[in-house]
Amino acid sequence: MGRAGWIVLLVVLVVSVEGTTAVKPFSFASYYGDHMVLQKAPQRTTIWGYASKEGETITLTISGKGQVNTTSFIGPIPSTPVWSVQLPAIDAGGPYNITATSSEGSINLTDVLFGDVWICSGQSNMQFTLSMAFNATEEEAEAVNYPNIRVFTVALGGSPVEEYDLLNISQPWSVPSADTVAGSDVSGFSAVCWLYVKYLSSHLKYPIGLIASSYGGTRVEAWSAPNVLKKCGVSEARKMSSVNPNAASVLWNAMMRPFVNMTVYGALWYQGEANAGSPTMNQYNCTFPAMIDDWRDRFHQASGGQTDPVFPFGFVQLAPWRDNDTITTGFTDIRWHQTADYGYVPNDRMNNTFMAVAMDLPDFTSPYTGIHPRDKEDVSMRLCTAGLAVAYNQTEFSKFNGPLPSLITIWVADGTIEIDYDNKQTVLDIRSTTGFEVSCITLDKSSALAEVSENITWFHLPMVSHDDTSVTFNYSQICLQPKDMMVSAIRYAWRESPCPFKQCAVYNKESGYPAPPFVKHIIDDKSNVKIVK
Ligand SMILES: *[C@@H]1O[C@H](CO)[C@@H](O)[C@H](O)[C@H]1NC(C)=O
Ligand SMILES: *[C@@H]1O[C@H](CO)[C@@H](O)[C@H](O)[C@H]1NC(C)=O
Ligand SMILES: *[C@@H]1O[C@H](CO)[C@@H](O)[C@H](O)[C@H]1NC(C)=O
Ligand SMILES: *[C@@H]1O[C@H](CO)[C@@H](O)[C@H](O)[C@H]1NC(C)=O
Ligand SMILES: *[C@@H]1O[C@H](CO)[C@@H](O)[C@H](O)[C@H]1NC(C)=O
Ligand SMILES: *[C@@H]1O[C@H](CO)[C@@H](O)[C@H](O)[C@H]1NC(C)=O
Ligand SMILES: *[C@@H]1O[C@H](CO)[C@@H](O)[C@H](O)[C@H]1NC(C)=O
Ligand SMILES: *[C@@H]1O[C@H](CO)[C@@H](O)[C@H](O)[C@H]1NC(C)=O
Ligand SMILES: *[C@@H]1O[C@H](CO)[C@@H](O)[C@H](O)[C@H]1NC(C)=O
Ligand SMILES: *[C@@H]1O[C@H](CO)[C@@H](O)[C@H](O)[C@H]1NC(C)=O
Ligand SMILES: *[C@@H]1O[C@H](CO)[C@@H](O)[C@H](O)[C@H]1NC(C)=O
Ligand SMILES: *[C@@H]1O[C@H](CO)[C@@H](O)[C@H](O)[C@H]1NC(C)=O
Repeated sequence: MGRAGWIVLLVVLVVSVEGTTAVKPFSFASYYGDHMVLQKAPQRTTIWGYASKEGETITLTISGKGQVNTTSFIGPIPSTPVWSVQLPAIDAGGPYNITATSSEGSINLTDVLFGDVWICSGQSNMQFTLSMAFNATEEEAEAVNYPNIRVFTVALGGSPVEEYDLLNISQPWSVPSADTVAGSDVSGFSAVCWLYVKYLSSHLKYPIGLIASSYGGTRVEAWSAPNVLKKCGVSEARKMSSVNPNAASVLWNAMMRPFVNMTVYGALWYQGEANAGSPTMNQYNCTFPAMIDDWRDRFHQASGGQTDPVFPFGFVQLAPWRDNDTITTGFTDIRWHQTADYGYVPNDRMNNTFMAVAMDLPDFTSPYTGIHPRDKEDVSMRLCTAGLAVAYNQTEFSKFNGPLPSLITIWVADGTIEIDYDNKQTVLDIRSTTGFEVSCITLDKSSALAEVSENITWFHLPMVSHDDTSVTFNYSQICLQPKDMMVSAIRYAWRESPCPFKQCAVYNKESGYPAPPFVKHIIDDKSNVKIVK
């Protein structure tokens, strides 16, 4: 095959390099490959790779879009010559061939699309493959209808030091199909990552690239850089090591850090089970938001400002686990901490984040155990709707969210409590009368309130009525005996597994999406509370 018209004059500087074992042949960095998706305009993306010498001229040509020159240098990786090019902003579409030429010859990426790039991370429920989910056969068979979605999976691995490139790849960039022979089957791809984007693509109608980088059984600390852990006062009890995937920062180092130079649109996250009941559970309200901030900072910086400094970050609030109505700690705490203790997102602490509520989707008979529910379709659809509203500013989807309590009115004389949702703007679907609980304290000025709230006793709060926008409860048998008691706290769905499938109490009638769990300590926080004597 003859040389094409882009043959260029090559300036070759022969430089003797120390530690030549680190020198790699002329190539792209590991995660650039045929069939990939690169971030579209208005953002610009970066392609980088290796050269065998410092000072080589590298010419990068994008079919139909011209060429860019750069020179290889010794930079981030000791003794290793690299090159890096920030491409011009390119609109959604393709396919393109991208060729890099140096004195050593030409390398190329073929069938490259421009669109949005999402990174999907977390633990086993993100790793959970399409082949394990409900409707696997149908979902796999129809994957071929989505040739504009491209998938890539990072191989499991940790590192005690920040890596510049991936250690290993499980599935290179692939055009989705059910065909295992062609090596592009989606059966082994993350179900939540795939389904979220499959639903999203019917609204966006342009290419989307998915990078799955998740590791079963891992805690948030493994995905967080040391500065996050320091900020949150998490002592690095588990020493860094490449063999323990739960050691501090090791997955950040090996499975996330390498992507920072490439522009991404956003991230998805399904994790938290491994932190429930762990010694650092109570710090999750710090570590999780701080990890998001840190990922955003680092991707923004390393992409030359191209990745949004508050890129959209979507996550799944923990699903149920065991068929046991008495478990009130662990998953409940993590669900709350996943929202930085606000009960909803986005909020003042967690900007540009979105969430799928999953606590009403139990699958106790899952062959992968109840901690791995097979219904990934509902959860992904909920995440997609929230993502359209937050990540894509399609504000008409905001009304699909689960209802949020907007005002709690305590009618002391009547012994009733009324909870209004969404400022009475959403029509409710009340599917159960259980799930609400109340606690009371004696109005004894001498008792320290903080101490009392540590030692809270919860009682079932009976629902007596509801209308389209609010729910009313009668607490007179609980807190008005004797008369000098007051309501100190109210909570909702505060169980590891709060209800049968889609049968929690409060839903949005139009979308069928559930209200998230909440706890409100009225003695400490009277915002949105009205007490009528
Ligand atoms: C790249 O370098 C070659 C040779 O040095 C030159 O012919 C070409 O015009 C350059 N291209 C750009 C876009 O600067
Ligand atoms: C990309 O290269 C292939 C050959 O590898 C060629 O068949 C195809 O037409 C090229 N596409 C573009 C857009 O240049
Ligand atoms: C890409 O590289 C391969 C392997 O060197 C070569 O066979 C192919 O023709 C190249 N394609 C393009 C579009 O340059
Ligand atoms: C998945 O299965 C459920 C129940 O059988 C069905 O209602 C739904 O349409 C299926 N989804 C797909 C994508 O086939
Ligand atoms: C790379 O990952 C693949 C797939 O997970 C695995 O089969 C292979 O053993 C790994 N290679 C190395 C060198 O770790
Ligand atoms: C985080 O949760 C712990 C335990 O529930 C609580 O003591 C702490 O005040 C919370 N911190 C933040 C920042 O919300
Ligand atoms: C990738 O980003 C890091 C962090 O900003 C930087 O140190 C490194 O030089 C970049 N890599 C390349 C190849 O430009
Ligand atoms: C339910 O959970 C409680 C609290 O953890 C435990 O004591 C009890 O044995 C569990 N019951 C069943 C049937 O597993
Ligand atoms: C939150 O992020 C959005 C989207 O990037 C931005 O427009 C807004 O100013 C941010 N708000 C705050 C309070 O940081
Ligand atoms: C979101 O959309 C609304 C109207 O649809 C518009 O006013 C607003 O500027 C948009 N925000 C962003 C961050 O694009
Ligand atoms: C805590 O609860 C126990 C059992 O209900 C009770 O005996 C004790 O007095 C309570 N302590 C405080 C400080 O309220
Ligand atoms: C609340 O319940 C008590 C005891 O069952 C009853 O006497 C009272 O009338 C009820 N109050 C309302 C407002 O329904």
